[in-house]
Amino acid sequence: MTSTNDIRRSFLDYFEGQGHARVPSAPLVPHNDPTLMFVNAGMVPFKNVFTGLETRPYVTATSSQKCVRAGGKHNDLDNVGYTARHHTFFEMLGNFSFGAYFKEQAITNAWTLLTREWGLAPDRLTITVYHTDDEAASLWKKIAALPDERIIRIATKDNFWAMGDDGPSGPCSEIFYDHGDHIPGGPPGSPDEDGDRFVEIWNLVFMQYEQVGGVIMSNLPKPSIDTGMGLERIAAVMQGVTDNYDTDTFKALIAASEVLTKTRAEGASQPSHRVIADHLRTSGFLVADGVLPSNEGRGYVLRRIMRRAMRHAHLLGAANPLMHRLVPALVAEMGAAYPDLVRAQPLIEATLQQEEIQFRRTLVNGLRLLDEATATMGPGDTLPGATAFKLYDTFGFPYDLTEDALRARSLQVDRAGFDQSMAAQKAAARAAWKGSGERASDDLWFDLVEEHGPTEFTGYSGHEGEGIVLAVIENGVRGDTLGHDQEGIVLVNQTPFYGESGGQVGDAGVLRSINGLEAVVEDVSKPLGKLHALHVKVVSGAIKAGDTVQQYVDVERRAAVRANHSATHLLHAALRNRLGGHVTQKGSLVAADRLRFDFSHPTALTPADIAAIEAEVNGHIRHNQPVSTRLMTPDDAIEAGAMALFGEKYGDEVRVLSMGIGADADYSVELCGGTHVNALGDIALFKIISESAVSSGVRRIEALTGEAARQWLGERDAKLREAAATLKSSPDEVPGRVAALIENSKRLERELAEAKKALALSNANGGGSGGKSEAAGPEQVGGHAFLGQVVDGLDPKSLRSEVDAMKQRLGGAGIAALIATNDGRASVAVGVTEGVTVSAVDLVKAAVAALGGQGGGGRPDMAQGGGPDGTKAGEAMDAIREALATVSA
Ligand code: SER
Repeated sequence: MTSTNDIRRSFLDYFEGQGHARVPSAPLVPHNDPTLMFVNAGMVPFKNVFTGLETRPYVTATSSQKCVRAGGKHNDLDNVGYTARHHTFFEMLGNFSFGAYFKEQAITNAWTLLTREWGLAPDRLTITVYHTDDEAASLWKKIAALPDERIIRIATKDNFWAMGDDGPSGPCSEIFYDHGDHIPGGPPGSPDEDGDRFVEIWNLVFMQYEQVGGVIMSNLPKPSIDTGMGLERIAAVMQGVTDNYDTDTFKALIAASEVLTKTRAEGASQPSHRVIADHLRTSGFLVADGVLPSNEGRGYVLRRIMRRAMRHAHLLGAANPLMHRLVPALVAEMGAAYPDLVRAQPLIEATLQQEEIQFRRTLVNGLRLLDEATATMGPGDTLPGATAFKLYDTFGFPYDLTEDALRARSLQVDRAGFDQSMAAQKAAARAAWKGSGERASDDLWFDLVEEHGPTEFTGYSGHEGEGIVLAVIENGVRGDTLGHDQEGIVLVNQTPFYGESGGQVGDAGVLRSINGLEAVVEDVSKPLGKLHALHVKVVSGAIKAGDTVQQYVDVERRAAVRANHSATHLLHAALRNRLGGHVTQKGSLVAADRLRFDFSHPTALTPADIAAIEAEVNGHIRHNQPVSTRLMTPDDAIEAGAMALFGEKYGDEVRVLSMGIGADADYSVELCGGTHVNALGDIALFKIISESAVSSGVRRIEALTGEAARQWLGERDAKLREAAATLKSSPDEVPGRVAALIENSKRLERELAEAKKALALSNANGGGSGGKSEAAGPEQVGGHAFLGQVVDGLDPKSLRSEVDAMKQRLGGAGIAALIATNDGRASVAVGVTEGVTVSAVDLVKAAVAALGGQGGGGRPDMAQGGGPDGTKAGEAMDAIREALATVSA
């Protein structure tokens, strides 16, 4: 028996031997085509090569391309499991010529491989050609020597292949294998062609035209070849079976499912095992290519597929989550051909397990509701749409899962009623929206979400990709076109541009199109939390709804933002480690040039705190652990130790970012929708540049990473060197030198003050009309010993201590008064010794009045005051004498 892996290898070897480049499968998410949900044919990755938009270093190629047909137009989901050849995931073997060869060589290659290399009996093969393609018909006759009745002309689009409304197309020729007359069915074009007897195994497309909007617009630059052979079908043929699910790969997956569920793939259980096997492949490959289950877009198609399989696992009686335990069997079968599957195995297992745990929580209750609602129904009856909606909304049953569950009992679901319930829920959400206060713009965004659904964000894994322009908005109003130099908002169906949210700034970059558009994306906002609104300025060309645009995120800027975002998580963890569990996030800004983090903590951080936090964060950066992302329900995430933000609204599922290795768990686990580094080493360097208070109990840290941190440190170093040069010392000596300088300058200030005082006192005289110098000693005023002195330039702060000293010099009871003039003003202090009943306050008030001032006060034994007119110092001293004489009389 020839294994599926052998057939794949043999096909690629054969065409490589014919000079074709062996090209690895492109990821399932098409990055060059915004109209497609998933790559659904082998030629999709080469679309732009056929049309001449792109050139490659080869002109012929061969590949085994991963394909998914589910969701969108080619929706095979309903039938999968119940037929012999329906799959949601399949592999397409193909050979391609981009102008190198055309029909004759393509037919020769195909015939040689099938009949010579693989030894298929020529009389088992039947060919179809497009009804007008005489050339193909005669080539088949010449090359394969087939009789006319086995070269069938078909007039339908079955034999005219087009990628879609837009893209390359051409007539095609299909090769059918006849399984024999014991199988019901007729040749292609006959009334019973849908039977299983004649099976199409290979489609050779003679690519010649380019279509736009479903109409042939032009010839391709060169006639080309695109062929597609379903690997599962040819494997069935070569393994002598008529059912794809009886081929080796499927048998192995079904056997694993049989073992784990302890049930046989027979009777009513057979479709369930087949569904599980098919959906396991699809789920595994989609997760490996970066799709995670969600409630929108591609993620929702994946969720529907996963949950459909999970319901069948439950149907088989699996008591515990099953799907993730089948992943090793999938990897064993297909990992050698697709190494990405091996690399992603842990993620696939974790994602499936998480999804199944989550789904099982509501599955039983949902099935009970379904049983109750259908208890009295019989074949042909219809389940109300509102019930299907409740199953969807409350129990997480995708619509087609409900359909699938009712299929065995021949019940239908009222789709229109389901859609109505969905619309009513959306209307209620709109009415409840508090919004920005600008009703008009909120309405606009709601209209756009209802019309087009949320924007699909493709920027977790990539920085560029095509998008279709859904709407153009100018000055808050929907318009038709943005032209040269105009600014406005552009909405696309899918975008790698991050919209500002969760503290992370929006991306910047450019939009281009083949029509010569060049627009700068200056910022991206995220209205309603669902739409990515690109704020653009058109530099050249124009942009209008319906255009296809190439989107390029400014990669360097994004890299800096990613580093700052991941560093913010590390900082948060380090703060909690160092300061305690009371630290919680109060605000955050993740920009390209810096990060800012506000957190609850009562006191300023010490330099030792800051140094320890920096050291811890940089330690994790150096360890360079990969950053892991998981999708979970918010509850599961919090149970898993994720730090959630209190008061923040989370959706049904959240991204959980884990970073670094902690003592007994991940170092940092946070819920976060932002973009992050792949491994912590990408942050390169972390530096705190400021720590301050925001409000009582809330501190703020600003920090830099990577190149910004390096530059900042460089500038600091330059300044230190400059200071060292000025000090004529080395940077290491700067702190010591500065401390010494400060000490020295303080000492000099002190000495200067002393000197000034000494000078002032030595120049002192009684001043004014009746001033007495100190040398004159105390005089007698009103029967008291009185020492009065006027000095110039004495610091007012020294007055009291000088008065105290003068009181000593009185040598007994008495009064000392000192007036100091400074810059035109005068200050006065009066001290009264014990045993004298006169109040110093009264004496000072007299002096203050003489100096043109007001007030003056203190205690009865020591009072102080001052006035603006220093020239009256002598009069003020006389006023003291007078007052003393008066109060003593
Ligand atoms: N593009 C064609 C198909 O998908 C042949 O590869 O059938």
